[in-house]
Amino acid sequence: MTTLIIRNAQIALEDGSTQEGDVYCENGRISKIGASIDVKAKETIDANGRLLLPGVIDPQVHFREPGKEYKEDLGSGSRAAVRGGVTSFLEMPNTSPATSTQAALDDKLRRASEKCVANYGFFIGATPGNLDILNTATPVCGIKIFMGSSTGDLLVNKEKDLDRIFGNGERLIAVHAEDEDRIKQRQQQFADRTDPAVHSEIRDNETARLASELALTLSKKYQRRLHILHLSTHEEVDMLRKDKPEWVTAEALPNHLLLNVKDYETKGALVQMNPPIRHSQDNEALWQGLKDGVLDFIATDHAPHTLEEKRQSYPKTPSGMPGVETSLPLMLTQMAKGKCTLAQILKWMCYGPAQAYRIPHKGKILEGWDADLTLVDMSRRHPVLNEEIFSRSGWSPFHGWELTGWPSYTVVGGRIVFDNGSIREGILGQPLSYLS
Ligand code: DOR
Repeated sequence: MTTLIIRNAQIALEDGSTQEGDVYCENGRISKIGASIDVKAKETIDANGRLLLPGVIDPQVHFREPGKEYKEDLGSGSRAAVRGGVTSFLEMPNTSPATSTQAALDDKLRRASEKCVANYGFFIGATPGNLDILNTATPVCGIKIFMGSSTGDLLVNKEKDLDRIFGNGERLIAVHAEDEDRIKQRQQQFADRTDPAVHSEIRDNETARLASELALTLSKKYQRRLHILHLSTHEEVDMLRKDKPEWVTAEALPNHLLLNVKDYETKGALVQMNPPIRHSQDNEALWQGLKDGVLDFIATDHAPHTLEEKRQSYPKTPSGMPGVETSLPLMLTQMAKGKCTLAQILKWMCYGPAQAYRIPHKGKILEGWDADLTLVDMSRRHPVLNEEIFSRSGWSPFHGWELTGWPSYTVVGGRIVFDNGSIREGILGQPLSYLS
């Protein structure tokens, strides 16, 4: 039997209050929470008053395996995840080959079972021609549609194809909402510009708004579960504030909350991503949208590319930034500054994603629930340093930012995987399951 006791923790409860005490884990589950539990366990962590959180669920990452393992693989990406307190992730299908068949999905699951140190789930990617398997491929957390082109070759941009996908089946559809025709037209219009800042002009707010509006229209037409990934503009927040059916969810990224077009000046194409970083007005609208519940949760869109690739000249530079290992300390630092509360972080990063994707027994510290936990240190500040990044990409757009709330321990399935800066070898995560 695997047993672990975490003693003297500030245990984060769902409502954002904390309880001082111990958490006892048996065979992967939280079996007891109490003031002082009288039990001997195989392993003990003395939390020494540190804050114990449910493991973070990152519902949007790109781990590049198979096909681009020189940027990241399921092993290195999941190690980066647990360093950042992330115990479960949902991974995107724009690998090579794309995860758009049952065989590709099976291959990913097999690879993950051999090397992932966090719990893993995968999206099935839509193409104009794979409708037959979109609703039968299993296990998947949802269907991913790239409405605008990004990294990889997945794309469904014709309204008749989108209509057919929304009109068939019941699974959650997660959309990358950017309008492909507008991207193409504006790429031509701005073809003489090679400064990375033009990226936010080409893929402007209207590019995102148009696609989100179409996705929302189709979702309402068929009452189809819709999730809008990495929502980035104040116009989209306004749209959802006016009209958001109860079966629709949306997410924001730390990148879009904390970075904006000013960052091109110092970081250039490092901060190039799709949808792009916006203006301070959009940063604030996203924060407000999260606080008001217009946006439901936070993902990172961890999208690793090498520094060498990022140092080419625009538009050769690939879009995306790593983020899975910095999201929790970034958000806890915002909390320490008074920008949000612990209750909000728990909803946005732990149980919110679990509820939307119907992942049972995850995202809360409750007896009987899964023992996925992270113990964070709110008393120490430490900068994000490229030299310390676990992701194979080896860099962070937040290099140099002083953060608090770095995990000391991360526990996956009742076992310590991340232990004060190191990974304990030989412990693997599990495939996620989803309630129908
Ligand atoms: O910037 C991005 N990079 N946006 C995406 O949608 C994909 C991602 C990637 O996979 O590189």
